[in-house]
Amino acid sequence: MRVIAVANQKGGVAKTTTCQSLAAAFAQDGRRVLAVDLDPQANLAIGFGLDPDPGQPSTYEVLAGRGVGLAQAALAAATRGLERLAVVPAGPRLAQAEAELLGQVGFDEVLERRLATAAPGFDVALIDCPPSLGALTINALVAADVVVVPVQCEFFSARGVVKLLDLVDLVRERRNPGLTVRLVPTLYDQRNGICKQVLGELRREFGDDVSPVAVGVDTRVREAQARGLPVTIYAPTARASEAYRALARDLAALLEREEAAHVQQAA
Ligand SMILES: Nc1ncnc2c1ncn2[C@@H]1O[C@H](COP(=O)(O)OP(=O)(O)O)[C@@H](O)[C@H]1O
Ligand SMILES: [Mg+2]
Repeated sequence: MRVIAVANQKGGVAKTTTCQSLAAAFAQDGRRVLAVDLDPQANLAIGFGLDPDPGQPSTYEVLAGRGVGLAQAALAAATRGLERLAVVPAGPRLAQAEAELLGQVGFDEVLERRLATAAPGFDVALIDCPPSLGALTINALVAADVVVVPVQCEFFSARGVVKLLDLVDLVRERRNPGLTVRLVPTLYDQRNGICKQVLGELRREFGDDVSPVAVGVDTRVREAQARGLPVTIYAPTARASEAYRALARDLAALLEREEAAHVQQAA
């Protein structure tokens, strides 16, 4: 199973939307997908129209080692037309996990271990990170093959990205040398001159780490979320749906290239 984390310490940059839309795009393309919510705000399951009941185990119980595996905590999204997708919901208790994890030796490898044991039958896992650079996000970076960083096309975005990239470097040095970065421009408004300028700056500064696909502002995204559906299901021909399908293809190709490089190295 390959793991894609979606992270940025800034809120409102389309992390959850990107995680949800990519999960749907991969599932619609025939892959078996596990989407894991690591944000105590717990928006991911709701975005799929799934309303976990209070007794439902969440990512918190999985990380806390209460004998609940990821697959057991996962809700099937089949009712939403996504037979190959399962979603592990978050809950408010997940906020406690930040502090609890920090008190443990090997705190940064907990999610990786849970993914390794829980995942027969899944091809790809997508992790929705909280808007912070704490223990939960570090767990996602340690577990991931690729970290997708949604970057809103506005001033100061690049500065925030540098902080996250510093953390990525640290995680690469200590735990996960193969971690690849994909910056994804989001909420792009082509009529807005500043947006264009910021996109140009991102490409100049971060080069090949920037995804060739930018996701534009599209009202269909909000409509879809209000109906508890990923945009790729609600409005398959919308521009945002096309963008997220293209992004999923780009990531799949990136993962394949990495796989091939590993095989070559091993030979
Ligand atoms: N392509 C888009 N077009 C229009 N609105 C979007 C788009 N992507 C995200 N949004 C909206 O932007 C807001 C923030 O997105 P969200 O995914 O919740 O960000 P985050 O998880 O980073 O906090 C939400 O209201 C979402 O509906
Ligand atoms: Mg979010």
